[in-house]
Amino acid sequence: MQYDVTVIGSGPGGYVAAIRCAQLGFKTAIIERYNTLGGTCLNVGCIPSKALLDSSEHFHNAVHKFDQHGIDIKGGVKVNLPQMIKRKSEVVDQTCGGINFLMKKNKIDVFHGHGSFKDKNTISIAKEDGKTEEITTKNTIIATGSKPITPAAFNYDKKRVITSTEALNITKLPKRMVIIGAGVIGLELGSVYARLGTEVEVVEFADSCIASMDKDCGKELRRSLKKLGMKFHLKHKVTEVKGTSRGVTVGVQKRDSEDKFELKADYCLIAIGRRAYTDNLGLENVGIAKDDRGRIEVNGHLETSVPGIYAIGDVIKGAMLAHKAEEEGTLVAEQLAGQKPHIDYNLIPGVVYTWPEVAAVGQTEEQLKEAGIAYKSGKFPYKALGRARASTDIEGFVKVLSHADTDEILGVHMVGARAADMIAEAVALMEFRASAEDAARMSHAHPTFTEAFREACLGATGDRMIHV
Ligand code: FAD
Ligand code: NAI
Repeated sequence: MQYDVTVIGSGPGGYVAAIRCAQLGFKTAIIERYNTLGGTCLNVGCIPSKALLDSSEHFHNAVHKFDQHGIDIKGGVKVNLPQMIKRKSEVVDQTCGGINFLMKKNKIDVFHGHGSFKDKNTISIAKEDGKTEEITTKNTIIATGSKPITPAAFNYDKKRVITSTEALNITKLPKRMVIIGAGVIGLELGSVYARLGTEVEVVEFADSCIASMDKDCGKELRRSLKKLGMKFHLKHKVTEVKGTSRGVTVGVQKRDSEDKFELKADYCLIAIGRRAYTDNLGLENVGIAKDDRGRIEVNGHLETSVPGIYAIGDVIKGAMLAHKAEEEGTLVAEQLAGQKPHIDYNLIPGVVYTWPEVAAVGQTEEQLKEAGIAYKSGKFPYKALGRARASTDIEGFVKVLSHADTDEILGVHMVGARAADMIAEAVALMEFRASAEDAARMSHAHPTFTEAFREACLGATGDRMIHV
């Protein structure tokens, strides 16, 4: 069969690219090596982790917050972890099933098997039953995503020494868990287990949590997670992990000295980042170049060193985020149709789904300082917000950074309830290059959490916040 476009990988980058290609009239195929569509995001990433975050948050609120609201549950609330995992799996099944529906609706041919380049226009598909099929294509979009980084010294065994994939399927509540890495995965999955009652200890090499985000956010989030009972060893590195059938021993060393100690736990979760996945893709058969971190190199049009072959999502440089992959999938499809799409990478928001949530877009204070850009800052605390007090969600703040001369909003950083949804307003305003004053003059419904954003914008325009 001859296709206009073949997409390798069915994650949020790949399936969105395929749908947009089909919408634009291209004869499109998608190849996925697993039996279900949806990639990391739908199967073992965004969706299942959020399902468990929501379930564990319900439990935590029942145990720790309901009494303040006058709801007496002294009769007892307990965790039914197998049911929690079952519900999570049902959410995953429904969501992945939805992608099958979308492929049929858009008349996209789906091939299950491992895709690899035989030559520039021929893709070979190795199937589970050992057979191989070949398809020919004018253009190819590589959307093969990423896998967790698991150094040999950590002895990843998928049983006691695990990654996020296995951490989403534990059915007996661990007593203790050591997490390597205070990044997004470590803190999201760490908070799931901490809320359910596991003693969680996090070892992080950097001097803050979520180190790539604005430093204030990391500090505020760590304060909240410590209240949840999570322990942190910042400026420490894990040197070695040993697993047995019953538990793990984790070797830890201070970052700046030779001091060493050991931690023992039921599980060790490795969450130190992910690597681009290009295994057995046959890149050498077509001469596609990779960078020093194994990511496929692309130009500004997301085209690889081989004309007609594009790459998107986690397998190329940039933030490893589902919505970034989706934008890139759309961009490639529209370019192939002769359109002139554009992505502003500075305006791709980042969200951490802990509670409080963390959400950000644009430049951090650290980045502005380093670039020598003069800026003003407005910071409004959740505890001064009526809506936050009404729901007992008083932890966090909204910080708005605007240009010292033009007042254009340059960065928005939030820690707090519903920050994940609130960041969309900041993205929209920044897309239209609004000033903090513009945002401050827009009416925000009362009482809502969004008033915190308006107040922070007032703060950035001068000493004008009303409620502090
Ligand atoms: P992937 O989703 O990784 O999909 C790639 C697909 O390609 C896979 O299905 C793979 O099997 C397939 N494939 C690979 N090689 C081949 C081949 N040779 N032949 C055929 N098929 C192949 N991001 C967010 O934005 N928000 C979140 O809340 C969020 N939560 C996350 C939670 C966890 C625990 C993890 C691990 C990740 C999370 N992410 C989140 C990141 C997000 O999942 C990724 O950024 C996103 O899935 C990348 O999409 P992609 O299409 O590039 O690749
Ligand atoms: P990460 O890059 O967010 O964090 C990894 C952390 O591990 C870093 O802080 C690093 O300093 C630390 N580290 C590395 N080696 C170490 C060692 N030996 N000892 C101690 N600490 C060490 O990576 P993570 O959490 O694995 O997530 C991978 C990707 O998945 C991220 O890039 C993220 O974009 C994506 N993701 C996104 C989510 C979201 O959008 N909400 C949720 C989960 C994942």
